[in-house]
Amino acid sequence: MEIKNIVVVGAGTMGNGIAQTAAVSGYNVTMTDVNDEILEKAIATITKSVEKLAQKEVIDPAQKKAALEIETSTDLKVVEDADLVIEAATENPELKLSLFADLDALAPPRAILASNTSSISLTKIGAATERPDKVIGMHFFNPVPLMKLLEVVRGLATSDETTGIIVEVGRTMGKEPVEAMDSPGFISNRILCPMINEAIYAYHEGIGTAEAIDTVMKLGMNHPMGPLTLADLIGLDVVLFVMEVLHRDLGEDKYRPCPLLRKMVDAGYLGRKSGRGFYTYN
Ligand code: CAA
Repeated sequence: MEIKNIVVVGAGTMGNGIAQTAAVSGYNVTMTDVNDEILEKAIATITKSVEKLAQKEVIDPAQKKAALEIETSTDLKVVEDADLVIEAATENPELKLSLFADLDALAPPRAILASNTSSISLTKIGAATERPDKVIGMHFFNPVPLMKLLEVVRGLATSDETTGIIVEVGRTMGKEPVEAMDSPGFISNRILCPMINEAIYAYHEGIGTAEAIDTVMKLGMNHPMGPLTLADLIGLDVVLFVMEVLHRDLGEDKYRPCPLLRKMVDAGYLGRKSGRGFYTYN
């Protein structure tokens, strides 16, 4: 099946990055969210990003134009014409399951329903629909236009055909698709979030300042960003949510979220998006 029309559900950081990347790769893209304000903000983010990428000649003028032509809607009914729906809504299991039931009812039978979830079981999401063979994880990384990886996550019922199509779409979007089993945190967050959680423990125990911890990992291990800066980029609420999933579903104490992480989320210190995390932002 040829994929032409992609609908991205959710226009936050991940959703707008996915929509932009799909549009510059030649797909017809529509982005949906619950209100116009979020969609306007998403278009402003995309505009800024493609201007920068065009200036650096990473994309050509036609690709920039395609990104500026992304359509928006607050009506989920736009999935009626979709070949592929990529969901990037809030990481809330109940919301996601009910959203997938709605998408299943509205999207044509041919459409593949993908989720950008970073930790919710694709098998469960698939079971909320009548087409679990066409449900799959497309896990992108922030900032989506720059990060090369696409983690392709197969639920128990995901078909080989669906997986093959999504691997191809990922390549067309300029990503390197890597297949992972549907297990808590998949490959990426099974490894990344415990490392970040450990960095938060080190900070909490006063082993080093935030700057010291980040500098050690940047200069000693060649990470592009230190783990606390990265936690601020990802969102502390997301890191906490992933740790809770790992702790609950794998049942081992080594995944216990650091109490400071929990406290910061309770205080609304969510990182860059709230202006304050381990660092402050304007
Ligand atoms: N669009 C276009 N340009 C962008 C951009 C975007 N979305 N985001 C950043 N840039 C540009 C910057 O503006 C900057 O441009 P100039 O050089 O012209 O100023 C350029 O990219 C480089 O950025 P920086 O100078 O800020 O810093 P950098 O060289 O460190 O690169 C980075 C930035 C690519 C984000 C790099 O720091 C990096 O790779 N960090 C790690 C990111 C990471 O680990 N992401 C995964 C998070 S986990 C996740 O997303 C999934 C999950 O489930 C939790």
